[in-house]
Amino acid sequence: MILVTGGTGLVGSHLLFELASKGYNIRALKRESSNTELIQRLFSWYDKEKGKELFNRIEWVIGDVLDIVSLQEAFQGVETVYHCAAVVSFMPDDRQIMMKANVDGTANIVNVALTNDIKKFCHCSSVAALGSPQKGNLIEESLVWKTSSTNSWYAISKYGAEREVWRASEEGLPVVIVNPTVVIGPGDPARSSAQLYQSVKNGMKFYTSGVTGFVDARDVAAMMVLLTESDIINRRFILNSEDLSYKELFTLFAKYSGVKPPKYRAGRFLSEMAWRMEKARSFMTGQKPLLSKETARNANIKRYFSNEKIKKALNVQFRPIEEAAENTSLFFGKYPVYLSPDFRMPS
Ligand SMILES: NC(=O)c1ccc[n+]([C@@H]2O[C@H](COP(=O)([O-])OP(=O)(O)OC[C@H]3O[C@@H](n4cnc5c(N)ncnc54)[C@H](OP(=O)(O)O)[C@@H]3O)[C@@H](O)[C@H]2O)c1
Repeated sequence: MILVTGGTGLVGSHLLFELASKGYNIRALKRESSNTELIQRLFSWYDKEKGKELFNRIEWVIGDVLDIVSLQEAFQGVETVYHCAAVVSFMPDDRQIMMKANVDGTANIVNVALTNDIKKFCHCSSVAALGSPQKGNLIEESLVWKTSSTNSWYAISKYGAEREVWRASEEGLPVVIVNPTVVIGPGDPARSSAQLYQSVKNGMKFYTSGVTGFVDARDVAAMMVLLTESDIINRRFILNSEDLSYKELFTLFAKYSGVKPPKYRAGRFLSEMAWRMEKARSFMTGQKPLLSKETARNANIKRYFSNEKIKKALNVQFRPIEEAAENTSLFFGKYPVYLSPDFRMPS
């Protein structure tokens, strides 16, 4: 039996589809409040004929990475674990819960995995956990984390989570870690990287000058499974298809969804103004800010990633990001209801 955490998220839902398509018995942890409606649609999107049947084969169990008792129950009879649950946020209000869910939650998961003699543990980390290199250097798996004021709280939480996984590997847990760049695919547009598409579709006018890596959610899922099926243990792998500027990504989204791409460049000065204005607006209206200091600053940084290690280890190729952008746009073209500003996923 395989246990997946974070199965209701962007990465986890694609992973569930990959595992279900390969015929595995899967148990997926979900919270009482989690919603699986979009995931059902996603299964049918990827397999019109068998999607529903594949989805119905998943055994959903209620649990929370911060509730050890629920984890003990979820681990019964499990041999393999994929840990994708995390809070992905750059908003100051989410810091506390993010540190708790990502670091303490991962510590709980690996501790329960150790006591349950798990045969293979695949951890979904992030390139954020690698830290920032010297300017202009290509980011590789060997990069050593350095404390720096440019590290976001999300990065710190993912670094803390990865440390827990490495600690467990020292204690005997066979682990493999993936460090995806920004994941592109259909997912809840109100959270994680799925928000990028929503912004373009809503007619965003500005783009920033940053460059980063992007990877298709289907590739992340497929490579997580291949790594877990392999004999590879105690290594980490960057999952990255291409390094693109945000402008290039937004132009691809715009091309496939029939909207105009953002036209004006928001340099550092404008970005600094924008996050401050959002902070003030949020303070006055009580609404969540649409932009934080961390998002604004990150969006102007240029980062480049190597994907040589995974390509050599598995002999795989990545889908071009144009395919990921097309897939995402076509999915939301078919199910525009998820993009409505008033739409809230029912729980
Ligand atoms: N998206 C990216 O660009 C990207 C890039 C690199 C790495 N990653 C990593 O990939 C993983 C998945 O990210 P994602 O993009 O799929 O995020 P997502 O769409 O926001 O999904 C997060 C998942 O974590 C679950 N979760 C959050 N807190 C939990 C808790 N306390 N207990 C149990 N489950 C909890 C959520 O469940 P609910 O449905 O109940 O909220 C959801 O299933 C994360 O580890 C993230 O750091 C993501």
